[in-house]
Amino acid sequence: MNKYENEAVRDIVLSHPQVIKLFEKRRIDFCCNGHSTLSAVLNEKRYTENQKEKFLAKIEEEIASEITNRAAILPEFATLKELTQHIVQTHHAFLLKEAAEIPILFAKVVKAHVANHPEVTGAEQLTLSVLKDLKPHMNKEETILFPLIKYLEDCKRFEEKPHLGRNQSIRKIINVLELDHQTAGGVTEKVRELLNDYKAPEDACTTYTLLLQKLEIFEKDLHIHVHLENNVLFPKAIELENFLHTTYKR
Ligand SMILES: [Fe+2]
Ligand SMILES: [Fe+2]
Repeated sequence: MNKYENEAVRDIVLSHPQVIKLFEKRRIDFCCNGHSTLSAVLNEKRYTENQKEKFLAKIEEEIASEITNRAAILPEFATLKELTQHIVQTHHAFLLKEAAEIPILFAKVVKAHVANHPEVTGAEQLTLSVLKDLKPHMNKEETILFPLIKYLEDCKRFEEKPHLGRNQSIRKIINVLELDHQTAGGVTEKVRELLNDYKAPEDACTTYTLLLQKLEIFEKDLHIHVHLENNVLFPKAIELENFLHTTYKR
């Protein structure tokens, strides 16, 4: 048996971020459904034993090469506060920039290509809805969750029990945010399906091609963004909250 077969896909990514490219290519969801084992994911995708073996060998090969600068793919931080700052400066900033540009490109593409490509209308609606939903989502993270995480880290430094309001349990807040991630991931997947995996059709103009490229980069960035939150930040924040509650009585 291959040693990665029974590992959760998110754990493989956490220890070997260079597999992200391979996972993206095979549409393996390592962010929202990162808890699934690689074997379960491949079975769900109906890989034959032979296909499975080949893919697992490819993963081993990729991991063995270890030439990639892992910090460039998935940076690591000494504190959760630093991780939240990275998320805001990198992924939230990128998302806001794209949320301003993508709708403009979409409007042009729909106008020029809807006759030959009616699918662009549905893709536009879905993309606009996901962009609209992600803005308050990021706002919730930046104004509620991330400051709370910073507060918990301060409590640890001062060896104090945290004093949180009734609705401020980190776990409760995270549950809601994880649901938002699931929804956004599902919607971008539908957009990708509608737009033929972002392969430009023969009659695509430059704007159409640019839009498809942007949507693909947007989706990849969202996967890394959600992975950093769901699989790194959130579990560590919950662990910290539990530690503080059980260790410090006052
Ligand atoms: Fe975020
Ligand atoms: Fe998020």
